[in-house]
Amino acid sequence: MKSVVNTPQGPVVREIAEPVAAGPHEALVAVRAFSINRGELALLKMRTDHWRPGQDIAGVVVEAAADGSGPAPGTRVAALVEGAGWSEQVAVPTDRLAVLPDTVTVEQAAALPLAGLTALRTVRLAGALLGRRVLVTGANGGVGRFQVQLAVASGATVTAYSAQAGAQAGSQAQTQDGAQEFGPFDVVLESVGGATLTAALAAIAPGGTIVVLGTSSGEKTPIDIYDFIGHEGARLISYLSYAQPDAIGQDLQTLVDLVAAGRLHTTLSHVADWSDLVPVLDDFRARRLPGGKAVLTIGGPSEIRGRTAA
Ligand SMILES: NC(=O)c1ccc[n+]([C@@H]2O[C@H](COP(=O)([O-])OP(=O)(O)OC[C@H]3O[C@@H](n4cnc5c(N)ncnc54)[C@H](OP(=O)(O)O)[C@@H]3O)[C@@H](O)[C@H]2O)c1
Repeated sequence: MKSVVNTPQGPVVREIAEPVAAGPHEALVAVRAFSINRGELALLKMRTDHWRPGQDIAGVVVEAAADGSGPAPGTRVAALVEGAGWSEQVAVPTDRLAVLPDTVTVEQAAALPLAGLTALRTVRLAGALLGRRVLVTGANGGVGRFQVQLAVASGATVTAYSAQAGAQAGSQAQTQDGAQEFGPFDVVLESVGGATLTAALAAIAPGGTIVVLGTSSGEKTPIDIYDFIGHEGARLISYLSYAQPDAIGQDLQTLVDLVAAGRLHTTLSHVADWSDLVPVLDDFRARRLPGGKAVLTIGGPSEIRGRTAA
């Protein structure tokens, strides 16, 4: 089968041996679509020794898990895998799989795993949001667009902060071009870092919660105790997805079902065949793609393949 292999010259598609299930709890999935996450760019830069990238996949089960724990062959699924997902086939532990209803395309499903789970879990980490004022930074990105929608769905009044004015991601969301002009906020979901985290701290209500999940700006943030004057009791909580390995399939199923119900929308900023991986990675790296998720398909788009057979 073909798979993306990262070399010192960059990622290339190579013929390699087909995967085998590492244990009775793993199913084999034929990948039909995968998406790119910002964090994978850093890994591609670091792991040039034939590392095989890819975390977000959607496709069709071709071999069920031997222990009978997962879906049958022919079932369309999405999954968050540890790696090697940018391949024609990948072995997946069944507790990382979610089953796709007919109305959800593999392209939509491939946009969900890492960004959607990060959004769902950071919103949960913030606590009950009914009636709370929530600021989402990086709101035009893959994670931010889901955070805005999930916080709105949880009953919060959401301010979406994006460097690109005009981004819109939820029915109650406002889009503003400067977080420091707003607040106080009970909760901030913060993924930009640097001056944006400083501004978030200046806008947090006393006793409020800032969930820190990323540094898209690449900037460090100097913070000291005096920054909390006027924001007494405010706390910063870190979120790192690798520290949350449990219930991935269950939470992914929640996201898939919300999409099927029309209560969560995926923004596919760019969809292309995986033969375009290198130029798409270049555009993604240079932020030339509009906000949302970039998705690559294997074997053609699902409209051509036929959705249920995708
Ligand atoms: N902790 C975890 O487990 C975890 C999991 C997934 C992702 N992450 C992190 O979360 C962040 C968001 O991920 P993503 O996949 O959503 O990335 P993304 O699609 O690239 O979105 C990042 C957003 O941040 C904004 N941004 C970038 N640089 C900025 C700057 N200098 N100033 C202000 N805004 C800036 C951009 O907004 P505009 O469009 O407005 O410019 C962009 O839409 C990344 O840092 C990623 O590494 C963490």
